[in-house]
Amino acid sequence: MSFADPRPLFQKALSQSFAMGAFNVYNLETVQAAVSAANDTSVPLFIQASKGAISYAGLDCLVALVSAAIQDCPIPIVLHLDHGEDFDICKKCVDAGFSSVMIDGSSLPYMENIKLTKEVVDYAHKKGVAVEAELGQLKGVEDDVSVEESTYTDPAQAADFVQKTGCDSLAISIGTSHGAYKFSGTATLDFARLALIKKVIEEITGYPYPLVLHGASSVSMDWIAHAEKYGAVLGDAKGVPEDLLQKACKMGVAKVNVDTDLRLAMTARVRESLVENPKNIDPRKYLSSGRQEIQNTIEHKIRTFGGRE
Ligand code: G3H
Ligand code: 13P
Ligand code: ZN
Repeated sequence: MSFADPRPLFQKALSQSFAMGAFNVYNLETVQAAVSAANDTSVPLFIQASKGAISYAGLDCLVALVSAAIQDCPIPIVLHLDHGEDFDICKKCVDAGFSSVMIDGSSLPYMENIKLTKEVVDYAHKKGVAVEAELGQLKGVEDDVSVEESTYTDPAQAADFVQKTGCDSLAISIGTSHGAYKFSGTATLDFARLALIKKVIEEITGYPYPLVLHGASSVSMDWIAHAEKYGAVLGDAKGVPEDLLQKACKMGVAKVNVDTDLRLAMTARVRESLVENPKNIDPRKYLSSGRQEIQNTIEHKIRTFGGRE
């Protein structure tokens, strides 16, 4: 199998009212967990790597690892760059064989975001690679960039942006945020804004347009408690409740990004394994516990996003 083009997969997901999960990877265990989850559920998914993941694993190593892992997987898997910050990293990933890249110009002034996104779209499309862009800003920390307050996506600007850039999907800001500390009070998403963004973009494109939700981990209290039982200190962590994500998926979100929940599941299981087996010094034993829990979490996400009953 080679990496899948996400565009027909988005159309299939939108026509069946489910969203594809996009899962962050950075090593053998995370890659194997994602591929096994796709195999077991028979639902296509995104495997995505951030700039931080690429510098941790090495670009060539990561591409070779994911390529090898999907060889016997009959389910379409998209290899995607998460939060590409400039043209250079997007070009490197396109050239290295990714089937999808994100150019994240959301921190730039509007016209500069358009210019940068269009530049990436022109390059990527020539090579058959899809492009996700972002408009509006999410609170939280990605790599070394920290955003204090969200700026919600403006619907009219979103339609103009898609028309001017030709991006294949758009990440929007409607209340989610990156990391494990998303809400201090009640968790809410701006569904009216989501509906309007979708409507005005589709008046321009004339076809169902894939919206993307970043910062969509649910940060389960059970997993927080489990990690804390084995020594983690996580404080007031809080994520996006699953019923809000389900509503967003039914309203036309076609891709949902999850990283924090995978980190939490793996960390909790590895901590448990180390504490419960103090004589073990074989990393394969605790890493395989972590890998299995990432797989379980991804399969749960796939069902939550409507990909499988
Ligand atoms: O949205 C960002 C992802 O969670 C990636 O995080 O940059 O620490 O790999 P990272
Ligand atoms: P979480 O931090 O909520 O998992 O979001 C991940 C993400 O948006 C990756 O791009
Ligand atoms: Zn993100």
